[in-house]
Amino acid sequence: MTDLLPFPPDRVAIGADRAPFRRAIAVADLPADAMRRVTFGELDVLLAHTERGIVATDDRCPHMSAPLSIGSLEGCIVGCPLHNGRFDLVTGDPVQMPTTGGLWPDGRYEPVWSPPGKEPKDDPPGPKAEARKLTRVRRLRYYPVRVVDGMIEVAVPEAWLADDSG
Ligand code: FES
Repeated sequence: MTDLLPFPPDRVAIGADRAPFRRAIAVADLPADAMRRVTFGELDVLLAHTERGIVATDDRCPHMSAPLSIGSLEGCIVGCPLHNGRFDLVTGDPVQMPTTGGLWPDGRYEPVWSPPGKEPKDDPPGPKAEARKLTRVRRLRYYPVRVVDGMIEVAVPEAWLADDSG
């Protein structure tokens, strides 16, 4: 029996609680401590096999959208490869701010990262510094997961699959 990581019900991605399940990859292709990107239409989903089970969230960092699937996974903490933000897959909360600083989900400001014992560097004024300051790190959003006949299935809203090319 494959364990699934329960996630906070109020953190489900919009529409995913009513969405049909779609086949992703075999359980055998997601060993313990592994992460994979699975794409459904325009939606990139991160599948992570944590120490407490399998879970699915966006494969976009809630900071500046980098792919979490090529980051790190330690226990239930996923680390982003771009600015070292870290997120708890159990709660969906950021547990380490990106090195760029910015706003926590509740709006608290965090300065640019600096090495221990050093004063935070003052950003040169300008639109880039302003953008860093105002970028709010969000909480993770989840997609329900189930396992059927050895295949991992993910609930993905239809809207992500819409073909508007014609
Ligand atoms: S994009 Fe992930 S920490 Fe910045």
